[in-house]
Amino acid sequence: MVLRIPKSLLRKGMYIESVECADLEFSGRRFLLETDTDLRTILASSAENVLVNPERSRIDCGVPVGRRLDDVNPSVPLREGEKRSQIQHAISHAAATLREGFSHIKSGKFDIDRFAPAARSIATSIRLSPPVLAEVTRLKTKDEGTYVHSLAVSGLMTGLGHLSDLGEETTRELTIAGLLHDVGKLLIPNPILNKVGKLTEAERHIVRSHPERGYQLLKRYPEVSDLILEICRFHHEALDGSGYPLGLRADRLSLPIRICTVCDVFDALTSVRPYKRAWTSTEALKWMFERGHLFDRRLVLRLGSLLN
Ligand SMILES: [Fe+2]
Repeated sequence: MVLRIPKSLLRKGMYIESVECADLEFSGRRFLLETDTDLRTILASSAENVLVNPERSRIDCGVPVGRRLDDVNPSVPLREGEKRSQIQHAISHAAATLREGFSHIKSGKFDIDRFAPAARSIATSIRLSPPVLAEVTRLKTKDEGTYVHSLAVSGLMTGLGHLSDLGEETTRELTIAGLLHDVGKLLIPNPILNKVGKLTEAERHIVRSHPERGYQLLKRYPEVSDLILEICRFHHEALDGSGYPLGLRADRLSLPIRICTVCDVFDALTSVRPYKRAWTSTEALKWMFERGHLFDRRLVLRLGSLLN
């Protein structure tokens, strides 16, 4: 099994099967990346991606040994265009389902089965093509922003759940958790949520209350599992304790919570916002990878391999 990752995520200790560029220096070379010189040469080359063999690497490459990416992303006999239109259709349908499901939660009539069709669409879309799903959900209108963001996070979490060997049942929960993680935003006034300029301290405080509000909203319903509650409440925590609402540190942040955090931030960075351009996947992954004190680097790598 070989990982295809952007070159910006390369580290010493990785075993390189191939550097995807025409540069003669690397042609036919398979080697353990051990020196800064080799690393700098690859970074300076015209290659965008590098094939890495996790089983021959000296460091943890983020993917459990023996896990086949094909299990997650099987070759579906569809052309790119067909995949795109299927995914676009699935997303617009799922966004409508999610909007309806959220309005029921707000009025106190939560029914987890309402989210099953959206969860199925997302699971199918991520199997069809993770990069296309990430691209299709990148553009969000003001009205549907939270819904499409939740669908994107749900899809990426499903992919990382598979890649992390979390099993079918837990991965299904991750899909639902992705759909529900920002449900607390329903209780934040829209003018604050959609404000283009800088938030005041008071507004920032209100926005930052959404994980706790979402948790309080969902915990009234016995059909919402502890795992989903935990993800909803702690998805803005950071490994070094600088996150919110509780400032939990790494030892209190489970793998499913970390998965949500990485997917959430990745989607935020790569989305078009009124005040910023969308970052490319490579830019976002690199930015997160360089912040190992906040994000689990193994998961950033795993996300890189999912999207390549
Ligand atoms: Fe959030």
